[in-house]
This record gives sequence, structure tokens and C-alpha cells, in this order.
Amino acid sequence: MTGCQNGSYEVKIMKRKILFSKETIDQRVRELADEISQEYEGREILMIGVLKGAFVFLADLIRSLSIPCEIDFTRLASYGAGTVSTENIVVTKKIEMPIKGRDVVIVEDIVDTGLTLTYLINQLKKERPRSLKVCAFIDKKRKRKIPIEADFVGFTIEDGFVVGYGLDVNEKARFLPDVYIIEE
Ligand code: IMP
Ligand code: MG
Repeated sequence: MTGCQNGSYEVKIMKRKILFSKETIDQRVRELADEISQEYEGREILMIGVLKGAFVFLADLIRSLSIPCEIDFTRLASYGAGTVSTENIVVTKKIEMPIKGRDVVIVEDIVDTGLTLTYLINQLKKERPRSLKVCAFIDKKRKRKIPIEADFVGFTIEDGFVVGYGLDVNEKARFLPDVYIIEE
């Protein structure tokens, strides 16, 4: 592994075996893009990537679509440790494009408690998109606090902390092409 200079995270990551290899991810992302292309055949979608984690996934996904799409980004942050409410989530970067009447697909890196996604969906619904669906690279089932499901899911895991392919641990490891589990 080159480029990851931070000692402790490097050791942590290297200790673990790869959970999803680059090849496995490439294959699954192409399948997801096919699913989405079929679902919206003949239409143009607006994909909204949730920063920062979803940027790698979004970049790969759009290049395998067979339908046209436009791109925007948003960013959210949660404050207060151990919070259990969407009231503690704030938008730190708003979407810039109008979504009224559009077919919108939110692209998330991972759905964990479901709080971020629920908040974002509620905000975007107010702007009356024609349709609103969610595509998540990873669905982490066990810690869900709000029973929300993504419409398109790359991989499902029960629990554990995963990094790589855009996903970070304290901003480290986003650049890794494979996905590693660093905590089980
Ligand atoms: P939520 O708990 O569903 O609101 O998840 C919010 C965010 O936490 C995700 O979009 C990720 O940015 C981050 N997150 C949750 N689990 C992991 C993980 O295993 N690795 C890296 N980031 C994670
Ligand atoms: Mg995220």
C-alpha cells in the first residue's frame, strides 16, 4: 500500500484483509449502473453525491450509465456525540441545482444509522422532485436507528467500520481502491 503515511491507520488497515476488492467493486458498480439505467430508461437523471465519501463511487457509477445524467453535490454534518436525532444534522454545502420536477438519485457512500439520509430526503422532498431515490454503495444494517432503505445498494454488511473507495477514517484511506474493514 503506497501513499498512506499515517502510521496507526496504516497498521490498522494492513492488518485486515480486503473486504471488497477493486475488481469486485468494478463489477458491482457496473451492475448497479445497469439497474439504474433500466429503471430510468429514456429519461435524464440528476445525481446528487453526498460529500465527501460518495465522490469515488459517483465518479465510477456515472461512467457506466447508459442514460444521461447531471451531477450536483451536497454535504452534511452531524454534531453532538452519540446523537440519535436528525435535528442534530446540518447542511454544510447545499445543492446548487433546482430539483423541482427532476428525477433525482441521491448517491451515498454508506447508510449506517440512517439519520443523515432521512434528513436529506426530507429536505429534498420539500423542493418537489418528480421522483427521489437513493443509491448507496454500502448498506450497513445493524446500527439503523431509522428504518430507511436505499433503492439501489452495492453491498450489504452487518456491521464493522469500513474504509477505502472514498470512505475514510479521520480523513485517511479515502484514496484506497479496495474496501477494507478495520473494526469488526
Ligand atoms: P448515518 O449513520 O447513516 O447517518 O451515516 C452517516 C455517515 O457516516 C456516512 O455517510 C459515512 O460518511 C459515515 N460512516 C458510517 N459508517 C461508516 C464506515 O464504516 N466507514 C466510513 N464512514 C462511515
Ligand atoms: Mg457520507
